[in-house]
Amino acid sequence: MLKSGSTSVTQSSESQLDAREHLWEEFQNAPLDDAEKERNLGLFIRSPLLARLLAISDVYREIVQIPGSVLDFGTWRGQNAVLCENLRAIFEPFNKQRRIAAFDTFQGYKSHSVDAQVDNENFRDGCYSTGEGYADYLTRLLGLHESINALPHVSSGHKVVAGDIKETLPQFIEDNRNLLVALAFFDMNLEGPTRFALDQILGRCVPGSVLVFFQLQRDFLPGEGYAYVADVLGKVRHELRRSVTYPSLCIVKIL
Ligand SMILES: C[S@@+](CC[C@H](N)C(=O)[O-])C[C@H]1O[C@@H](n2cnc3c(N)ncnc32)[C@H](O)[C@@H]1O
Repeated sequence: MLKSGSTSVTQSSESQLDAREHLWEEFQNAPLDDAEKERNLGLFIRSPLLARLLAISDVYREIVQIPGSVLDFGTWRGQNAVLCENLRAIFEPFNKQRRIAAFDTFQGYKSHSVDAQVDNENFRDGCYSTGEGYADYLTRLLGLHESINALPHVSSGHKVVAGDIKETLPQFIEDNRNLLVALAFFDMNLEGPTRFALDQILGRCVPGSVLVFFQLQRDFLPGEGYAYVADVLGKVRHELRRSVTYPSLCIVKIL
């Protein structure tokens, strides 16, 4: 059975969730062999997921003409990071200086780390925990995708960084003293870590850098909005838009 609500914030009705279960059953019992299934994932991908992929693609296209890395804060399973390696391969196949770094504790939330103002079932202890060894798995996946894409013999140096960003990000910046940030995804849902990451990387952004917030205006997950108001609004010259295909995704472009 599909654990549709285990880690997702959904606005779907019961009947939509039922249809989602049926689609999942059709996926599992599809009359396609594994290779055909892999080549026909569009049969099963739901419109909200497709909207999200399209939104990330739109955002990626905005950074093609600027240098700098892609940082994914709160990568969880790493889908944004893997997508960005493949978008890099599509939109700028010869740019092997586009490094991607995916940050997460990989242990999910711990109650002591959760902002006091958050009251949501997605912040239970261990929620979003990936299990042991996931950082290594994601590192292998990123490497595999890179080895399928153009110039496989030139490594971009993508990194999966495991641990609380309050500990890992300063060291990452120290290890990459020429770091510029072209694109950063913020999806930790909490004010504290989001403000910390913003504080660390704003000085590494250039005109045209893009900061993407997944929950900027969600009332029940206000942390990113608080961080934006405190650290970006009124302090950094920027434009703010929402994604055309995925309205909750908010895009800050540094001017
Ligand atoms: C909503 S999930 C991210 C979902 C993911 N971005 C996606 O696209 O599917 C939030 C993630 O932020 C991570 N996180 C929260 N606080 C963190 C911190 N201080 N340092 C690193 N990761 C953190 C959690 O472990 C969790 O995996």
